[in-house]
Amino acid sequence: MRIIRTKAELKAHVRELKRSGKTIGLVPTMGFLHEGHLSLIDIARGKADAVIVSVFVNPTQFAPNEDFDSYPRDFDRDAALCAEHGANAVFAPEPEEMYDPSASTWVEEVSLSKPLCGASRPTFFRGVTTVVSKLFHLAQPDIAVFGQKDAQQLLVVSRMVRDLDFPIEIIAAPLVRGQDGLALSSRNRYLTPDEHLRATNLHRSLVEARAKIEAARAVKSEFIEAAKEVITAAGGKVDYVSALDRTTLREPTAGTTQILLAAAAWFGTTRLIDNELIDF
Ligand code: PAJ
Repeated sequence: MRIIRTKAELKAHVRELKRSGKTIGLVPTMGFLHEGHLSLIDIARGKADAVIVSVFVNPTQFAPNEDFDSYPRDFDRDAALCAEHGANAVFAPEPEEMYDPSASTWVEEVSLSKPLCGASRPTFFRGVTTVVSKLFHLAQPDIAVFGQKDAQQLLVVSRMVRDLDFPIEIIAAPLVRGQDGLALSSRNRYLTPDEHLRATNLHRSLVEARAKIEAARAVKSEFIEAAKEVITAAGGKVDYVSALDRTTLREPTAGTTQILLAAAAWFGTTRLIDNELIDF
């Protein structure tokens, strides 16, 4: 497995792969890999001849008050896991390699990126779409795999690919949870054992709301309020709990066929997200 640190090396590697007729699968990550990330690599391997995993803590998607500096990093372990899972290369540039200091261009999606996480993190998605565009141009993948864990990110990236005609198929990978139901996340590392235990109620709040929505075949505000109450009672601070049309991220309508039930909450100093998809 190749470890690639520069854009020039990556471009040369991609040229080599293309020359030998190989299809390329890209798995963008910020590293500190867990089973959720590894499931994306496994899916990519099933869909493409060569898999490139990017490991890059992207500064442009963190606001100044957020956790860019403290974001967990363990590159040697990440590289070993990528090799174990059959990746062909890991692309791990430094921020200075990725971004020119005078960079002044953003790629911005302006509809799906507004509600939910976009409301509390207004510059987050433009950082994601900008870095993902750069990664797409550099790695020229045939397919790219994104996790349902970040449901809104998956939608925003898919919209960007459609709107900007990237010749790339976006594959959605199922959300991977721990045995206690907590969605796997690199940020779980920040949680104390007590916070971890309390944070499992984030998932529980959604499972309970989901059952009510399915039984009523409707979204009622009392279901959402009850979910918020479960989180608050567990010591969490709710950012949002919301049930929206999965394709528009607007309030469900008569034509809605799938609901995204999504939540974000703080446990201690850690912000966690989770979601459930409900066929409607
Ligand atoms: P990161 O949080 O490292 O996640 C990388 C990919 O792994 C994303 O597609 C995410 O949805 C997926 N993932 C994370 N946890 C998962 C889980 N428990 N189950 C399934 N998939 C999971 O998301 C990012 O990095 C960044 O925003 C990035 C797209 C790399 C751009 O910088």
